[in-house]
Amino acid sequence: MQILFVLSSLFRFKDSRMEDVWLVDFYAPWCGYCKKLEPIWKEVGAELTRSGSPVRVGKMDGTAYSGVASEFGVRGYPTIKLLKGELAYNYKGPRTKDDIIEFANRVAGPAVRSLPSRQMFEHVLKRHSVLFLYVGGESPLKEKYTEVASELIVYTYFFSASEDVLPESVTLHELPSVVVFKDGTYFTYDEYEDGSLSSWVNRERFQSYLPIDGFTLYELGETGKLVAIAVTDERDPTERTALSVCTQCFCNDQKSSLMLSCRDFQFGHMEGNDYINSLIMGEVSVPSIIILNTSNEQYFVPAEPVEDLEQLLRFFSSVLDGSAPAFGGDGIFQRIKRVAYDARSTIMSVFRSSPLLGCFLFGLPLGVISLMCYGICTAESDDDTELMKRDGFTDEEEEEGEEEEQGAKISSSS
Ligand SMILES: *[C@@H]1O[C@H](CO)[C@@H](O)[C@H](O)[C@H]1NC(C)=O
Repeated sequence: MQILFVLSSLFRFKDSRMEDVWLVDFYAPWCGYCKKLEPIWKEVGAELTRSGSPVRVGKMDGTAYSGVASEFGVRGYPTIKLLKGELAYNYKGPRTKDDIIEFANRVAGPAVRSLPSRQMFEHVLKRHSVLFLYVGGESPLKEKYTEVASELIVYTYFFSASEDVLPESVTLHELPSVVVFKDGTYFTYDEYEDGSLSSWVNRERFQSYLPIDGFTLYELGETGKLVAIAVTDERDPTERTALSVCTQCFCNDQKSSLMLSCRDFQFGHMEGNDYINSLIMGEVSVPSIIILNTSNEQYFVPAEPVEDLEQLLRFFSSVLDGSAPAFGGDGIFQRIKRVAYDARSTIMSVFRSSPLLGCFLFGLPLGVISLMCYGICTAESDDDTELMKRDGFTDEEEEEGEEEEQGAKISSSS
């Protein structure tokens, strides 16, 4: 395990940084997730050495070397970064050995990998569900492509090839071109219609249909697309197939009247409604369908349960033409609601895991606050906001069934 350095010397590290590629785990001694990562990190180091990778694996106590940590923009722990020349790449994926190794190999290699033959192209196409390819010789577009690739390689691979590498089934209207192969077909980047190359790559880097979890949803947020999710029941696989197959065939149906606007959507399914419920701070039924606007946090739900493709199409077009009512959003009211919602779920989870601790943590201060409010309200009886606050607290107490407890605390503290 000689490659697993503890980067104790800032100078040694900064000197060797220029030639080498480093994969660094910035950790803090007190952080639980960092401890969890430790054995995985050792395996990553061992595996990369074994495979002869040029990537050197290290870790650094970000609290002891806070200067270095802040120079690299470390904001939380653990933070995994790949340092290559002057560039630092953030790792945001799941913290598993295979994912981290895949990331290191991808980012440490060239930003654009060239595909010399048809066989090579076919082989790579089979292995990647989404494949970006530059076709043509040297050009300003290629420079642009390389620039975008060196930034977005954290998410996906970028390839280049000459035209004769492509099979006959692919026809390009002009050369050079940037093409993405996915969903069994391909799309060409159009400078005039698609905006900047990097925003196009960001939008196109997902298959049109995906199983969605919290992490994917967070990533999808960067595409600015509408995300249509079939919320399915994990215990009822028949329902799952029905709704998600429905969504799936909808987006693969080339003849669908909405085919053009279909590319505004990202489709997928999510098992269970827990995540969605906390996201929208409400309750979606299972199974059902929900459309999230990732650019303004609004969401749409059908007025009636969707049972067939016809109704699904009608729902999608009502969202697109703006006739469906939008909920949520990122306005000030929603933000206040979010703070209250988060506070409430924290309180609930403390009570659920340890009722006694909950009573002690919240009952005592609430009792004191209630007394203070009582004092203020009787002094200035027209202060409505204080009254509302006090009512709010009382509701919460009743829901948890801790009223007597609070009473007891009040009497003991008074
Ligand atoms: C999604 O949000 C963006 C940004 O606010 C807005 O321009 C767009 O019209 C919204 N899409 C829908 C379907 O509401």
